[in-house]
Amino acid sequence: MSDLLVTDIGCLVTNEVTIDGTPLGVIYDAAFEVTAGKVSWIGSRSEVKASDYQKIVSANGKSVIPGFVDSHNHLVFAGDRATEFSARMQGQPYAAGGINYTVEQTRSASNEELRKNTVALVSEGLSSGTTTVEIKSGYGLSVADELRSLEIAREFTEETTFLGAHVMPTEFKSAPEDYVAMVCGPMLDAVAPHAKWIDVFCDRGAFSPNQTRQILTAGIAKGLLPRLHANQLEPGEGIQVGVEFGAASVDHISHFDNSDIAALANSNTVATFLPGAEFSTRSKYPDARPMFAAGIKVAIASDCNPGSSYTTNMPLMIALAVREMFFTPEQALWSATKGGALALRRNDVGHLAVGAKADFSILSSTSYLHLAYRPGVNLVEQVWRNGNQVS
Ligand code: NIG
Ligand code: FE
Repeated sequence: MSDLLVTDIGCLVTNEVTIDGTPLGVIYDAAFEVTAGKVSWIGSRSEVKASDYQKIVSANGKSVIPGFVDSHNHLVFAGDRATEFSARMQGQPYAAGGINYTVEQTRSASNEELRKNTVALVSEGLSSGTTTVEIKSGYGLSVADELRSLEIAREFTEETTFLGAHVMPTEFKSAPEDYVAMVCGPMLDAVAPHAKWIDVFCDRGAFSPNQTRQILTAGIAKGLLPRLHANQLEPGEGIQVGVEFGAASVDHISHFDNSDIAALANSNTVATFLPGAEFSTRSKYPDARPMFAAGIKVAIASDCNPGSSYTTNMPLMIALAVREMFFTPEQALWSATKGGALALRRNDVGHLAVGAKADFSILSSTSYLHLAYRPGVNLVEQVWRNGNQVS
């Protein structure tokens, strides 16, 4: 007996290329079974064998997609930066320095406040279809504040990232190498049990390529896996440093050239675009087409944070990636699901196949195309995780 049958699915996106020879692996008029939180059978509705199900859910001919895998977020913080956003909309440029304002707010917040804010953002994402979320630290920037940020992040996800190297904290401005030493030493020692990943903001006004190398080397020695904020604010070595260290993903990549494409094409590193950051900082959107043409694996994520992208909404990311970064709707949906899973080196999420986690959303539209075609409209009707309805 299976726990659940989901049937009457007008259009099921599986992300299994073997199904129809396309990356989305679409089955029309589909159904699938769930046992113990995992997909246990998937196919055409006409092939469903009469069986005992504890529960039968009809999608009423609508689309079903894998849960979004939002692989880049900064959710543990206090306060907001609405005033900074407003100034930007009147012409001020975005700069990494604004991060220190959120650091101040975060340091003076209680654990309860930080937890409450994180709960709100995780639930917001869940209700728009995000079933796997990555959360970074990076607004503590002291041993104690980075540690509690990661302890809180860990309550929500196993995809936790140590980003002590987010920006130089104000009190270390005149002694940057001392801060790098602290990140690589006592801070890393304290947080390592709570983090899966290590990340560095390698960019103008943040950390140099050599500091990035030093920090990634220390993190890897402690058993953390590398990922990187790279080339958001200007062209640079970030993407190449990420590839050199075997990073699972290089993120932002708002600036790249042919040598970056060549490096990524010969690597196992995912190229993650964050269209919310270009939107909220009014920056030029990169054109993703050369990445796809080179066969590079691409992800998109929301980069939810109070400075450069205060949104958890993956359908909006899909719409922006299509409209502004020249993704096809199919590439955008794949990047928000399977691409995100690859960026987190996960194969149990981001697709629907026998053995995968039963994480999926039922849309209110008959086609997944509506995610890009109807921007700003809430099309996610039901969200299921591990075979249970969660929204
Ligand atoms: O990914 N770029 C670096 N970090 C964040 C922004 C953080 C902030 O402005 O508070 C990002 O966009
Ligand atoms: Fe970020």
